[in-house]
Amino acid sequence: MASKLMKALDVAFGHPRGKVGEFGGRVMAKVNAKAEVHALDVLRPRPDEAVLVVGPGPGVGLRLAGERAARAIGVDPSQVMLDEARTRCADLILAGKVELREGTAARTGQEPASVDAVVAVDNLQLWDNRPAAFHELFRVLKPGGRLVVSVQRWALAVSESDLIAEAGAAGFTDVRTSLQQHGGVLPAAVLLLADVPA
Ligand SMILES: C[S@@+](CC[C@H](N)C(=O)[O-])C[C@H]1O[C@@H](n2cnc3c(N)ncnc32)[C@H](O)[C@@H]1O
Repeated sequence: MASKLMKALDVAFGHPRGKVGEFGGRVMAKVNAKAEVHALDVLRPRPDEAVLVVGPGPGVGLRLAGERAARAIGVDPSQVMLDEARTRCADLILAGKVELREGTAARTGQEPASVDAVVAVDNLQLWDNRPAAFHELFRVLKPGGRLVVSVQRWALAVSESDLIAEAGAAGFTDVRTSLQQHGGVLPAAVLLLADVPA
């Protein structure tokens, strides 16, 4: 019973696919919006910057990144989510401000030192190989770049100090975490911030 529920949640939200995934995308666009806005507010992309959005799902945060930065690139493994994000960001894609591609945190397809900032909301718990993913995000960030990750605390199987150690081992400096409450039905989230040395 519990494993059936976990499977259904994964099809809707974790690795969205089919009609259930489309429904999950509509739910996430509403329910997760506050966490996405908060992460972008913390990231503070400047108008001349390129931002990589990892696991944008239905594209609420990706849209915001495209509006605030020069360019936003979204990478997500789910075709259903890529389609929803494409629809939500259609005007920004047309204007050359948003790009979408199939990928994961550990396989972004970006050039080394090509983005100023990386943001990932509610998908770190799905990274199959977290150390490899932190290395990949460090690789694509420019010197002086910054990382903002938000993840619901209950979904994490590791401690904050493990995450800090993994990000540090990838080369990030000044790695710090805090607990955030976004209100509504959203449970507490861990916010991880980290920098690439200039
Ligand atoms: C719970 S949803 C969150 C979506 C969006 N960021 C939000 O907060 O509404 C998780 C998203 O991460 C994507 N995802 C799954 N595995 C991933 C991975 N290894 N790397 C990056 N994204 C992944 C899923 O396809 C899905 O779009």
